[in-house]
Amino acid sequence: MMRAMNNFPFILTISSEKGGVGKTTLTTNLAIYLKAMLPDLAVTIISFDNHFTVDKMFELKGQTSKGTVEQLLTGTPASELVLQGQYGVDYIPSSNHLTELYQEFKGPMALCRMMAESGLSGIVLIDTRPDLNILTQNALYAADRVLIPVKDMSSLENCKHIFALFDQRGIDKKSLSLIPCLIDNRIKYDGIFKDQRDLLKGFAINRGYRCLETYISKSPKVESLNTNPDGKIYPILTHARETEVHTQFTELAQDILNSYHHTPEPRACLYHCWLQEQETQKKEAFLARLEGIPAHCVICGRALEGPTGKGFFYESADRNARGFLHSDCFVEMLRGTLYNLPAPNEEVHALSLQMIRESARESMSVFLPQKTPDGDYRLRFIQFDQRGSALLERTVSLTGFTEGRFDGVHDQLYLLLNESLAGDGGGLRNSWLAVHPVDEQRPELVLQEQHYRQLQELHRRVADFLALAGR
Ligand SMILES: Nc1ncnc2c1ncn2[C@@H]1O[C@H](COP(=O)(O)OP(=O)(O)OP(=O)(O)O)[C@@H](O)[C@H]1O
Ligand SMILES: [Mg+2]
Ligand SMILES: [Zn+2]
Repeated sequence: MMRAMNNFPFILTISSEKGGVGKTTLTTNLAIYLKAMLPDLAVTIISFDNHFTVDKMFELKGQTSKGTVEQLLTGTPASELVLQGQYGVDYIPSSNHLTELYQEFKGPMALCRMMAESGLSGIVLIDTRPDLNILTQNALYAADRVLIPVKDMSSLENCKHIFALFDQRGIDKKSLSLIPCLIDNRIKYDGIFKDQRDLLKGFAINRGYRCLETYISKSPKVESLNTNPDGKIYPILTHARETEVHTQFTELAQDILNSYHHTPEPRACLYHCWLQEQETQKKEAFLARLEGIPAHCVICGRALEGPTGKGFFYESADRNARGFLHSDCFVEMLRGTLYNLPAPNEEVHALSLQMIRESARESMSVFLPQKTPDGDYRLRFIQFDQRGSALLERTVSLTGFTEGRFDGVHDQLYLLLNESLAGDGGGLRNSWLAVHPVDEQRPELVLQEQHYRQLQELHRRVADFLALAGR
């Protein structure tokens, strides 16, 4: 059967904090039943357990592995790691180095993203360790369905932690269902609960948990499948067909297949769409920032092309003006107006330009015009390092600026301020200007999401500094 979105897997996670409730037995055998019932379906097992049951059960001789779940969790696409196993079930080899990964494993949705980018299709079953560590949490959040095996009151009690996790993250709990496992049918009770299953189900419902009609009986035959003279683990489907557990697994597999067929857009697909949406938004934001940027350098008025192209990026704090400046224009302007370095000869001139260029390329230059009592402007010029600490401060008088009188010394500065900070009424806006060095080869990079966000963060620090310093 073809599905519209067959390149995103449906994820089934089997999880419980309690050990020995039948998670691995459930995962491995369910995979075999799913495959047997729908041979065209891709069925893949990923195990975070370190018992290597999956490997023992499915390994086909002659296959070479490119890695284990450890590689999966450190970024290798799942499709490169999957091995073909017995009974037509695929699997990724287990690892016992996963505990070392917990520290660096980033965020609760990392696995969901890996599944979205896995290239896998069909159903992926994830067997987890009996805990709720970051990996298990990831497996829970990535799942379209979660089966929580419960065998007694204490395992039922433990479920509340999983439900609480979903509440905390605001994830719909309808994917979660309990399944009574290892049920001993010989035990009967008097009263409203006839047997173990009835009792567990009653308590589950009482706590508001969904509990499947299907359950898994405890069977000595099933238990014996793990222990064989040849060291193999045999499947229920092939070696315990006469038990009621076989019928129960058939029912459970049918239930999972139903969910699979009714989920045209599994979580991995939704997550993929969400990521794409984010990317589109970032691209659009980038283009919006690029829009309206002057094609010329506001200091010299010439086009921003050629070898000494865009060396600096300016943006007003109110984000109303932004653009690029020629490297030489900006550096020359700093030399002439702010550093006031005497240039007795060519050599000294070149040397001072070199120094100013170097310091400007390592810092952010901030221009804050302030009105003086006599209606003119003076300028606070501050250079900050890349972490937002002030390095140097100057105050420059801007006499003549209001009247539009260019004095031959401050002309370049006046042009820059006028182009970037002019208000409607002729004066300057109540804002300031920041000038950042950019990569001359790829100046537009500064407008891309990640870089631009860093720049805005720096602007916030400067704003804090200016507020503290009392503007
Ligand atoms: N239906 C069953 N009837 C009898 N024994 C079973 C059944 N299912 C599982 N077992 C046995 O119970 C034990 C625990 O099962 P399993 O390893 O699947 O649990 P688990 O939850 O994965 O354990 P862990 O938390 O250690 O990973 C095993 O010895 C297994 O053979
Ligand atoms: Mg297990
Ligand atoms: Zn220029």
